Amino acid sequence: MGRITTEGQYREHYDWSLNKNEEYWQNVAKELHWFKDFDSVQTGNFKDLNVKWFEGGQTNISYNCLDRHLKDRGDKVAVIYEANDPKVEAKKITYKELHQQVCQFANVLKDQGVKPGDRVCFYMGMVPELLTGILACTRIGAVHSVVFGGFSAKALAGRIQDCEASVLVTNDGSFRGGKTIALKAIANEALKDCPTIKKVLVSKRTNENIEADARDIDLDELLKNASSECEATPLDSEAPNFILYTSGSTGKPKGLLHTVAGYMTYAYHTFRNVFQMEENDIYWCSADIGWITGHTYLTYGPLLNGATTVMFEGVPTWPDAGRFWQVIDKLKVSHFYTAPTAIRALEACDIKFVQEANLSSLKVLGSVGEPINEEAWDWYHKNVGREKCPIVDTWWQTETGGIMISALAGVTKDIPTYATLPQPGIEPVLMDADGNEISTLAAQGNLCIKRPWPGIARTVYGDHERYKDTYFSAYPGYYFTGDGAKRDEQGNYRITGRVDDVINVSGHRIGTAEVEDAINQHPSVVESAVVGFPHNIKGQGIYAYVILSDEIAEDELKTQINNVVNEMIGPIAKPDAIQITPGLPKTRSGKIMRRILRKIAANELDNFGDTSTLLNPEIVDSLIKGKK
Ligand code: WT7
Repeated sequence: MGRITTEGQYREHYDWSLNKNEEYWQNVAKELHWFKDFDSVQTGNFKDLNVKWFEGGQTNISYNCLDRHLKDRGDKVAVIYEANDPKVEAKKITYKELHQQVCQFANVLKDQGVKPGDRVCFYMGMVPELLTGILACTRIGAVHSVVFGGFSAKALAGRIQDCEASVLVTNDGSFRGGKTIALKAIANEALKDCPTIKKVLVSKRTNENIEADARDIDLDELLKNASSECEATPLDSEAPNFILYTSGSTGKPKGLLHTVAGYMTYAYHTFRNVFQMEENDIYWCSADIGWITGHTYLTYGPLLNGATTVMFEGVPTWPDAGRFWQVIDKLKVSHFYTAPTAIRALEACDIKFVQEANLSSLKVLGSVGEPINEEAWDWYHKNVGREKCPIVDTWWQTETGGIMISALAGVTKDIPTYATLPQPGIEPVLMDADGNEISTLAAQGNLCIKRPWPGIARTVYGDHERYKDTYFSAYPGYYFTGDGAKRDEQGNYRITGRVDDVINVSGHRIGTAEVEDAINQHPSVVESAVVGFPHNIKGQGIYAYVILSDEIAEDELKTQINNVVNEMIGPIAKPDAIQITPGLPKTRSGKIMRRILRKIAANELDNFGDTSTLLNPEIVDSLIKGKK
């Protein structure tokens, strides 16, 4: 069926995908390689929650990313690696070379006893071994779980324990702009609580001194000596592909489990339709592989399509705020996909950095991770896209596996601040306050998805009940996204943000409960409440209200709370503001009225709505007075 190239074709595909859903996805899937054909396209539904795609079939995503291209694209560049240090020449890895490297890594894993279904945890910087490592896992049917290199030892340990990983792959350290992160030292701390880990494969990057753990093995040495031949293992369609942890409104992070064939088919189809790449284009997704965007649209989507994908180790503001634009010029990037928070951060820097760049190689821009405000959209369009590049504002989630709502670059219309239209096979609906579908086009409500699509996460690893509760209990029979949205007369969607207790800080999802749990570890904190508030650069910032048992100087408290949050989660969850308060607004049943806390944090100090159910209405004035 190929890629969708006109607006009319988009309409045709969309109608086809809804009217003959199975036929549609069968046609997409058949473009990929199967060791064994599937017997059914889709079974199960959002009531029984046993959704399966392409049952009876056997395939391999690593084979489809690599081997499938060797004949026609063996010498084409698959990955361009741009290191943190701008003086280092970019490393080009062809499909043939990538295939060899992945095979070598797969052989190392096999030699270390890794079997299909085993979990392998990656805690690394943005190094080529991270990309080859996850492809190596999928090649032999092992399940990767990548933990972002900015998480703390406790957060890493929790994720390893939850999925009982047997191997950890890490670096000595990683470069991030002018800083290094001592990954191995953090990993060593985590490893004390991780008895399931039998082997720790360590690859050198920063060459800093590391303390050895009895389980350490020199990965670089093993890779050098490994054979570069390793057949891809035929895997059942619904075999596990990877686990990725993300925060929710309650409890500890959830390990979303994605399976092989559905995820692969969805990543393949959405990548080509949304980004519209030509054979010689160069695509750069600036996300870290530690997040879902780095899985689906840095690694799998581009490679499934035989594209050239850029992997960048550094940060947008080092050595200066022109780094992104210098890399685009240096590598002749045609497609650039980044987050609104990065755009806003660069917008706040001297305009000369972007003006000095040429940027004439750019054809398509993308945005992901949070709602993009109009000002940032305009700045991106004008200064980066030079008013000639369409912007795809792609709405999706860790749970959805791939892009759900987005324009197709240059094919369907982009509208500032709107994600616009659903991808083929995706049936979004808006729900009213009574839990019913809103049938009028122009409307606002909670965003749900009405039918299964191939890329949906199948479960929360080890806790199917939690999967049901979180996503399918608010609106039985529908997948609930946790986001609110508006829809216009033409059916375009505009995402308005989370409607649950999840904060989106710089495009990273942080659960308020998780931050509260961390803050409550402080010996003098009696109780805390955390909410999000509008933040110029981060989109949302973290605002913490704390009740103390004894007096502590504010500065001191701030440092101590930052330390404890760093220790429990990592620097990304550090509060932007901390307010000491004698109490929190509570209902008679003891529930914190977060609506009031959100309004105060946002500096909306009038009209608090109905506060008659508050047990302690006098606290509102005191909170306003103490506002940070
Ligand atoms: C949440 C998912 C998968 C992308 C990376 C983040 C927000 C994501 C958009 C967008 C408005 C967006 C939503 C969503 N979000 N993309 N284009 N416009 N909001 O993945 O960590 O799973 O977070 O990010 O609130 O629910 P994630």
